[in-house]
Amino acid sequence: MSAKRTSIHGQWSSRWAFILAATGSAVGLGNIWKFPYIAGENGGGAFVLVYLLCVACIGIPIMMAEILLGRRGRRSPINTMRVLAREGHHHPAWQYLGWIGVLAGFLILSYYSVVAGWALAYVFRAAGGLFSGAGGEQVGEIFTALVSDPERLLAWHTIFVVMTMIVVSRGVQSGLEKAVRFLMPALFLLLAMLVGYAMSTGSFAQGVAFLFSPDFGKLTPAAILIAMGHAFFTLSLGMGAIMVYGSYLPDDASITQTSVTIALADTLVALMAGMAIFPIVFAHGLEPGAGPGLIFQTLPIAFGNMPAGTLFGTLFFVLLVFAAWTSAISLIEPAVAWLVENHGMSRVMASVWAGAITWTVGLGTVFSFNLWADDTLFGLTFFDLLDFATANIILPLGGLFIALFAGWTLSRRVTMEELGLDGIGYQLWYILIRYVAPLAVVIIFLNVVGLLRFG
Ligand code: PHE
Repeated sequence: MSAKRTSIHGQWSSRWAFILAATGSAVGLGNIWKFPYIAGENGGGAFVLVYLLCVACIGIPIMMAEILLGRRGRRSPINTMRVLAREGHHHPAWQYLGWIGVLAGFLILSYYSVVAGWALAYVFRAAGGLFSGAGGEQVGEIFTALVSDPERLLAWHTIFVVMTMIVVSRGVQSGLEKAVRFLMPALFLLLAMLVGYAMSTGSFAQGVAFLFSPDFGKLTPAAILIAMGHAFFTLSLGMGAIMVYGSYLPDDASITQTSVTIALADTLVALMAGMAIFPIVFAHGLEPGAGPGLIFQTLPIAFGNMPAGTLFGTLFFVLLVFAAWTSAISLIEPAVAWLVENHGMSRVMASVWAGAITWTVGLGTVFSFNLWADDTLFGLTFFDLLDFATANIILPLGGLFIALFAGWTLSRRVTMEELGLDGIGYQLWYILIRYVAPLAVVIIFLNVVGLLRFG
């Protein structure tokens, strides 16, 4: 059994390249689009606190586990799980973990790409000066006009799927590494600027209080589940994206340091997005629980009323598209790597197949906002259902099994060797991955099931 395997798909050029790529995967629509609107829908403060706790106690240990599994196996998640199970004489069913991940990747990317399409559309709306001087009502109308038109959504969705597949087909190292290196800091700067604008709205204190002062009365079992699901979603965990990136990680890189760095960067971006958005929400008397359109109905007001807003607005949506792009690539990489390994396909062919499947499933989301808006199950549209099932059920379930595999099935010798930890550091991870993370996921699940059964 060799720890010095190499991946047939290549390797990151350095530890930093991996951190950038993994941060690129983690930081995306989840931070800027999703976090603010679910925090708004679930009452703010207390929800944010649960999310932060989940990132620290469940997210970071599972991220370390995913990276170590990936680096140990050096294959697509399906084959990594198969090989690691075989080498340790464990049950071959562990490979299904990889399959669930591939499925989750397709499902998530199918709607992710539609929302990324909104961001693409907004680049042109911002550049065209559509927001200048706009108030809450106007930007609301601009958003409604976009999502109620299936043809437009379809066009933007198609463009984003094609963009993603082009980068994926070229392999992880070329292009991707270089792009992330400068786009991430740029996004960060622009967000900082938006927070600065939010400070000038007069409602900054109210926005910050909404995000950070917990009102536990608003914390329902469903809100706790959504906060946990989001910790998985935002860190790209539970479906093999970080595992496959870990399979390209050089042997000498520290898994602990990289995981903590990625989680911190990701959390910071989400909190900054919240601090930029909620002051605008309150200053303009908008609704924090406005749903998926929240950032598209708030940030344009900021751009419409700040100096050089057309420029900054355009730049912001361009960077949002890039953030989504670097996440989208990682959503589909597990499937593409598997197609190359098991079907001898070229990366280009594999990308075409993966793109075609994603595009087709994405039609459901495109129509959720218009033609099928009234077709609901449990009051949820196709998009709502997909988003709920993937983020709040499939990813935590995947994460649970990853924790069980790394904590209970894999030998301590292997995990210790890969993590390069000993003493108290290793013990801490071991307790988190063996007990804390799995129990937390199970308890949060049972809490919601109990609610459904006993009202
Ligand atoms: N983490 C990404 C985001 O926050 C989404 C994602 C989820 C990417 C799962 C890969 C895997 O936008």
